[in-house]
Amino acid sequence: MTPETMDAAGVAAHEAALGVALDAGRDVLFAGGSALEAVCAAVSALEDDPHFNAGRGAVFTYHGTNELDAAVMDGATRGAGAVCGVTHTRNPVSLARAVMEKSPHVFLSGAGAEEFAREQGVEMVDPDWFATEARWQQLQELKAKKLGWFDAGLKYGTVGAVAVDASGHVAAATSTGGLTGKRWGRIGDSPLIGAGTYADDRAAAISCTGSGEQFIRAAVAHEICARMRIGGERPQAATEAVLDEVGAMGGVGGVIYATPGGETGFAFTTPGMFRGRADSAGLREVGIFGES
Ligand code: GLY
Repeated sequence: MTPETMDAAGVAAHEAALGVALDAGRDVLFAGGSALEAVCAAVSALEDDPHFNAGRGAVFTYHGTNELDAAVMDGATRGAGAVCGVTHTRNPVSLARAVMEKSPHVFLSGAGAEEFAREQGVEMVDPDWFATEARWQQLQELKAKKLGWFDAGLKYGTVGAVAVDASGHVAAATSTGGLTGKRWGRIGDSPLIGAGTYADDRAAAISCTGSGEQFIRAAVAHEICARMRIGGERPQAATEAVLDEVGAMGGVGGVIYATPGGETGFAFTTPGMFRGRADSAGLREVGIFGES
């Protein structure tokens, strides 16, 4: 994802899509809603947009299906909900929230998660809803070129949102199709509380994108919060230090954060990362490439 690999139309389309999601979250906060509601609104918009690897537009598994993972966490209570391997739930982030709010559990998988979704009245769709031609061609390219699991250009695109609301509560949500060509029920970091998603009013809300295996091993989202809470580090320093750990393991990716004090930021070790940021002082920005 560099200016050389994305044409002007692609840049404009992605920036517009980022703006829609950013505004969805910002509007919730401006109306007095909670950080939890804001991150769910932003991630739902990204799941519905085919430009991103989550919900509609998710990458394909090796066997040509779309299997979706998502998580949400409320920093005020450290309540959390997550789902993995769902194939019919239009907005996996909504199901993750239902797990948090309407079940006694934190993490549901596959058919059981979708049985729960139906019981809760969460919107279900035919699996074709998630499929796009561009993602299908990525799978064919991966197979034809016998590319490795983590080869550039065919991989990430996980979506996430973090927010801090007027009460100083933070929340995080993350949603993904995972890796192109994934097999054997592979699950990445996104739905794992503490790895790809974490929120704690004592530190920050964190959402991650990148090579999930290394993000799991480094427990990235919780590790950033722990460095802040116990070690007293600033969020940017903690984020960059933990991304360095991921890099030492051979992983790449990015992180977004928001603190109860209103600090927001990001870091990434990939050539680009789709991102956007808004605040009550009028900031509204989106970005793609490696400038900041
Ligand atoms: N970071 C998303 C995944 O590895 O599934």
